[in-house]
Amino acid sequence: MKVDGIPFRTIWLGRDGHSVEVIDQTRFPHRFEILRLETVGDAASAIRDMVVRGAPLIGATAAYGVALAMHDDASEDALDRALDELAATRPTAINLRWALDRMAALLRPLDPAAREAAAYAEAAAICDEDVEINAAIGRHGLAIIEKIAAGKPAGKPVRILTHCNAGWLATVDWGTATAPIYMAHDAGIPVHVWVDETRPRNQGASLTAWELGHHGVPHTVVVDNVGGHLMQHGLVDMVIVGTDRTTARGDVCNKIGTYLKALAADDNGVPFYVALPSPTIDFRVHDGVAEIPIEERGGAEVSEISGLGPDGEVTTVTITPPGSPVANYAFDVTPARLVTGLVTERGIVAANEAAIAAAFPERAGGR
Ligand code: MRU
Repeated sequence: MKVDGIPFRTIWLGRDGHSVEVIDQTRFPHRFEILRLETVGDAASAIRDMVVRGAPLIGATAAYGVALAMHDDASEDALDRALDELAATRPTAINLRWALDRMAALLRPLDPAAREAAAYAEAAAICDEDVEINAAIGRHGLAIIEKIAAGKPAGKPVRILTHCNAGWLATVDWGTATAPIYMAHDAGIPVHVWVDETRPRNQGASLTAWELGHHGVPHTVVVDNVGGHLMQHGLVDMVIVGTDRTTARGDVCNKIGTYLKALAADDNGVPFYVALPSPTIDFRVHDGVAEIPIEERGGAEVSEISGLGPDGEVTTVTITPPGSPVANYAFDVTPARLVTGLVTERGIVAANEAAIAAAFPERAGGR
């Protein structure tokens, strides 16, 4: 996507041919800064500290992290250490393990002398494939928006609610949940996006709102508790969210609070779609609530909040009483029964085991 007229992806190879550059997402929405990753440790820190985040981008960064490790030392030991260090960064998004498994399967049989070039080429391929997948999700999701638009009076916007940031900043480009929105907007279909703020880290308020604003997509930021009210009053035509891991039977793990939106959508007859790139399917798990590890992050994300002060500096304030314990669960699971459809690169797939397996037969029953 373009930032002030300049085309950007979220991750790219540096001019020196080995370092990797990323957009520092901890600085949004008030600063646009680029960070250079020189080592596998830099890549691991970028994922852990959420300089990069969003399931597909976590996978792409991990792939480049392996390449950075191979640049320094392409031995078997170094490969093992890199895979372990990167795998330990965040527990929930399955794209991380998917990318590491893919890198390991490619690199292990190779002579160490061949590993560096192969690793960089594979990381680049993972990035290019992510862009293709998201563009395809966009085309399939666009058909849903077109259908809703066709049932509305001319000129009335399709009102779409989204949670967290499943936008281009969460992927290499396009985004998953946002790809259909960008394509609809570009096609001249009026859309309006309700952007959940997404406490505690505010990915909606600081990332999704920034993205949509830069692309000219009309949107309104709401606090996380507003969705149910909007749906009760007929102000939402569809919900579309991303996912960090979707199980073989279609349970969807995504940013904390997604489940509550799905419940409200179900209660109000609002279609609830999940944009799902196939690397985000974990065919090894079925019951999402029981089997998916849910990341618990530091309490400061709950007890503190940051924003731009009147002096133009970003400042952090505490919002809880001293000594009050806090809990910070980062993801929840929406059961498949609440999902209207999975918008994949191969079309709209029902959220059940048979339909998912039929859409991705080469991966079903295994990896
Ligand atoms: O904690 P984050 O910001 O990495 O969580 C991101 C999300 O929950 C996204 O919705 C998900 O990764 C899908 S991104 C296309």
